[in-house]
Order: sequence, then C-alpha cells, then structure tokens
Amino acid sequence: MTTTSSGRHQQGGRTATGGSCITNGSYGNTWLAARKQLGVAATGELSGIDSWEHNVTEAAATVHERFMRETLQLAERGRGRVSPRPLVGSLVVRDGIVVGHGFYQEPEPSHAEVRALREAGAQARGATLYVNLEPCAHYGRTPPCTTAIIAAGISRVVAGIRDPNPQVNGHGFTQLREAGLEVITGVLAVASTQLNEVFIVNQLERRPFVHLKVAMSLDGRIATRTGASRWITGTAARAAGQALRHRYDAIAVGVGTVMADNPQLTDRTGWERHRPLVRVVFDSARVRLPPDATLVQTARQTPTWLITTTTADNAEHLARLARCGVRILAVEADDRGRPCLATALERLFSEGISSLLVEGGAMLAGAFVDARLIDKMTCFIAPRLIGGTTALSAIGGTGAPTLEETLQLTGVTLEQVGTDFALTGYAGRTIIEALAAARVAEQRFSL
Ligand SMILES: NC(=O)c1ccc[n+]([C@@H]2O[C@H](COP(=O)([O-])OP(=O)(O)OC[C@H]3O[C@@H](n4cnc5c(N)ncnc54)[C@H](OP(=O)(O)O)[C@@H]3O)[C@@H](O)[C@H]2O)c1
Repeated sequence: MTTTSSGRHQQGGRTATGGSCITNGSYGNTWLAARKQLGVAATGELSGIDSWEHNVTEAAATVHERFMRETLQLAERGRGRVSPRPLVGSLVVRDGIVVGHGFYQEPEPSHAEVRALREAGAQARGATLYVNLEPCAHYGRTPPCTTAIIAAGISRVVAGIRDPNPQVNGHGFTQLREAGLEVITGVLAVASTQLNEVFIVNQLERRPFVHLKVAMSLDGRIATRTGASRWITGTAARAAGQALRHRYDAIAVGVGTVMADNPQLTDRTGWERHRPLVRVVFDSARVRLPPDATLVQTARQTPTWLITTTTADNAEHLARLARCGVRILAVEADDRGRPCLATALERLFSEGISSLLVEGGAMLAGAFVDARLIDKMTCFIAPRLIGGTTALSAIGGTGAPTLEETLQLTGVTLEQVGTDFALTGYAGRTIIEALAAARVAEQRFSL
C-alpha cells in the first residue's frame, strides 16, 4: 500500500529551548550560505532543474525512461560501496541495444560513464549515453567524464539530475552542449534525487544526511511503563531495520539506550560494504557509557565513537573507554551540558560520516526533532497498544508548543512489513526542495 501526502514542511518552527548552540537562525544561515555558494536563490531552483528546452516525442520519452530505470538499477548496485560519493549508473545505447554499462563502486575510482564507454568501445560513436547524475566536468581523482564522453563520439546524453557539487553543477551539461551533443535532462528526476538524497544533502549542507528510525506501538510508545521494549515490532520489521542500517555510514543512539538495552548496533545483513558501520553514542558531560557495555567491549572489531562535550571532566572514565578502543569526540556543549547536535554533525562529517541513522531513544530523537536536524524519518508501527501515561513515547525533547510549529513530514509512503507498517517521509528542507525541483524537471521533460 502506498499513499502520498503533500503536507507543508515547517522549517521556521524551531521550538527547542535546550541547546543554545542550535538556533533556527544558525541552521538557516548554513542553508543560505550553501545556496549562495551555488549561486542559487534561497527559494530558487535546486539540482533537478535544467532550463534548457527539450523537444522529445512521447515515444522517445518512454524509451528514455525505460533506459533510465535500468540506469538507476545499475547505480543501486553500488549501494554500501560509494560513500562519500554518489550512486551512479550509466548505459551506452546504440540503435535500441545496450552496448555498454557501468556503475560506480569503490575502490575503483573510474566513474560509471567511463566504465560504460570502455565496454562500448567503438560502438559508442553516435550512440546515446544514459546517466542518472550529471557527468563531472572537473579533474578530481579522475579526469572529467565530459571529456571522455565527447572523445568517444557520443551524440546524445540523457540525464536524471544536475550534480549539486559546486565543481559540476551545470558545467557538465554546458560542456557537452558546447561540444555539439544533444543533452536531455530531468528523466526520472525524482527517483534520481531520492537515489542520491544523501549526496545532495552532503553537498548543500556540508553535514551528514540524518535519518531517524523508530519502532513503536500504534499509540506511539517505544517501551512499556516498566521499560520493556524488546520487541515491539515483528521479525520482518526488524529485518527491514537491518537493511536500513546497511545504507548508512553510522548509527547513533543516546547513552540511555545503551544503558537500558546494551545493544550491538551492527549491520547483520551480510551484504558487502566498503567501510565498517560506525556506532556513535551521544553521551553528555556526565559520561555514563559503561565500560562493560557490548559497544565498548567490541569497539576493536566494530568502531564505536563516543560524542561527549569539551566540558566533560571525567578524564579517568574517558581514558578507560579509550583504552577499550572507543574513539572520543568532544564537541561544544549546549546549556544542559549535552553535545550541540549541529556541531556534532559537522564533526562527524569532517570525520568522513556522510549519513547517520539515528535509532533513539526518545530523548535523543526529540533533541534531533527540536533542532530540525532530521532529513528523513521511518517509523515502524506495530498494530498494538501499550498505553499508560508513564510509558516512554517515541519522541521526547521539548516538543512543539503549537500545531503550526510541529514537524510535518512530506512525500510520505506507507507499506506493510510483515505484521507491522513502515511509514517513511521527508523532514529536511534541502531534500524536500530538491525533490520539488526534480518534480518540476520531470514535468518539463515529459511535456
Ligand atoms: N523502539 C525503539 O525504536 C527504541 C529505540 C531506541 C531506544 N528505545 C528505548 O528507549 C529507551 C531509552 O531512551 P531514553 O530517552 O531514555 O534515552 P536516549 O535517548 O537513548 O539517551 C538519552 C541520554 O543521552 C544523553 N544525550 C547526549 N546528547 C544528547 C542530546 N543532544 N539530547 C538529549 N540527550 C542527549 C543524555 O545524557 P544526560 O542525561 O547525561 O544528559 C540523555 O540522558 C529505552 O527504554 C530503550 O529500550 C526504543
């Protein structure tokens, strides 16, 4: 079952009084600065839109969409093996037949387009190249893909979305057009944006993409009044939760969850990933993470990072955790002696974390919601009622004082997972805008 809502997103409604380090203003300024860097107006167009007019017949559009769907499936094969770079697939098609295909995956630095061109060889001359993200136009780890595409004699490039990376951002399309190639954009732009939602937020906000995951009862509880929480949802939902972990660079929990549940927080899908999943514990100046916790005892096998504050004065305890292999990251404290979330995210990003799955508990989830630092949310809902006024509800924190200031999810989907339901939606302003731009680009293409 899939339903879509088009509810409005409330960015301006920060209601938290907790972290003086996090203000609506400072978050908004980062967002504005990112747009200024890209030369995009605050309310302007994002990665999906290309102002070039296309003249594509309905039959050709259907063909382009079919090959773009295949391109997206190819790109998906890099899942778990591209971070911090984007998921990219590419096809070279000649006379309706695929003669080259490629997708990007580490550790091979060559891009999807170059791999597809390599396979196509001489057959690339006069062919169409499909790619979900704009080809790069600059020297990075590899030479520009635009140069390789032009040199191979490709006559038409069909693309999903523009690359928000300031070094590319439209230059790739321009270079190809200036070389005389036909360039068609906006093909399956929404799916292309969703595929690279992490990369888009990374590029525009210079912080990890944050996805909040909650498993709760129908009445929004994550534990009973006695603290029992395992398991609220069934095996299928828990397996889906594992699959979600596989998509992320790191998982975060609050120290309260470690103390209550002593979790492992590992990726047990068995699927290949090129970097180990990092487990991040948000602690406070008190530093309560127990040295005998599973996360600490296994820190040498699976990375465990502790986020505390620069005001923590529990040096002996921190040293003990460090001796067990826990990496300590101290960041600025808010006025409750807890890590400032915006600063913690910046720090994690600088340490190579592109995406973060926040798994609770209630206080940490509430702090992220209050700070409006959530891009996406998935709620696994079990059709059972826990009840009780003292049973923990999924989202703690300060909360919204008025309904106008609540955090509204958009682009919501609901699917049945075993005996439970998974509701997923977007909450972050940047990704919501990028999706809106992609919808416009898609409409322009199919007009
Ligand atoms: N069903 C689910 O999806 C799910 C998932 C996870 C957990 N749970 C359940 O949730 C319960 C634990 O939740 P909880 O709310 O008590 O604890 P929590 O959110 O896991 O951890 C809260 C603690 O984290 C520390 N912290 C560090 N930075 C913080 C920040 N910026 N904002 C807020 N807290 C921060 C605080 O320590 P100080 O107090 O020292 O400041 C706070 O007490 C358990 O019963 C667990 O089973 C359920």
